[in-house]
Amino acid sequence: MAQTDSYRFITIERREGIATLTVNRPDKLNALNAETVAEIDRAFRSFAEDADVRGIVVTGAGEKAFVAGADIGELAQMDPIGGIRVSRQGQETFRFIERLQKPVVAAVNGYALGGGLELALACHIRIAAENARFGLPEVKLGIIPGYGGTVRLPRLVGRGRALELILTGEMIDAAEAHRIGLVNRVVPQAEVRAAAEALVGKILANGPIAVALALEAVDHGYNTAVDEALSLEAHLFGLLASTADMREGMQAFLEKRPAKFVGR
Ligand code: COA
Repeated sequence: MAQTDSYRFITIERREGIATLTVNRPDKLNALNAETVAEIDRAFRSFAEDADVRGIVVTGAGEKAFVAGADIGELAQMDPIGGIRVSRQGQETFRFIERLQKPVVAAVNGYALGGGLELALACHIRIAAENARFGLPEVKLGIIPGYGGTVRLPRLVGRGRALELILTGEMIDAAEAHRIGLVNRVVPQAEVRAAAEALVGKILANGPIAVALALEAVDHGYNTAVDEALSLEAHLFGLLASTADMREGMQAFLEKRPAKFVGR
């Protein structure tokens, strides 16, 4: 465990089943160089394996930025094949986050631009600080979003709104991000991390297998035709009837007491 927690550009704090991952390059507004993406990847793979981590919060160091994008200094060096590789690596990491069967909440504490917005989009839920700013400025640099932004943003906020952000490269503030459904809520800067941790905590009070399978059903349902998605939903729903947690959850309701879930 000690080894997986030794990182250069991220920090991880663990408390009450919640791991808070902070992208930690504040002098570069937490921009994602290749090593930072690799560390985020490594951290999430360790969270997947670690039964003591039941939910995750992702945030950025300092008060100014969540993540101000991929590292433009590095991107400036890329050739076409290198560009495909960079994009694929980021996509794989972010898809792993999206598919994780533990809740992941982004605490967007400042600029979420380019790869930073794409990181937030890969999280299951987003909470923004009042000072947060969101944008996909890639076209201003002569590129397009390469970590899933063209795929996830239209799905989350609709094609017209996504295209406005993608084609203008302009930023929107937290209130606008909230209005278009890009973030679930906006809180004062000083409270954003605590608000995200409280939300994860609320989720963790529920049956962990139910939470995991709900995440699976929604991810699968988003990516497949309705009838197939409904079929998987029915099978996951039925599968939960085999769990001790289902019996406990229903018994607790009938006995008017809080449920004690065990994850079986
Ligand atoms: N890649 C590399 N370095 C970055 C960066 C990025 N995406 N975003 C910010 N930085 C660096 C700056 O170069 C600067 O470094 P320096 O002090 O060594 O010169 C430092 O972070 C602080 O940024 P600065 O631009 O001075 O802050 P600001 O408050 O004036 O502006 C932003 C903030 C976010 C508006 C501005 O930094 C910006 O536009 N960043 C790039 C955003 C972007 O295009 N992201 C998408 C990349 S695909």
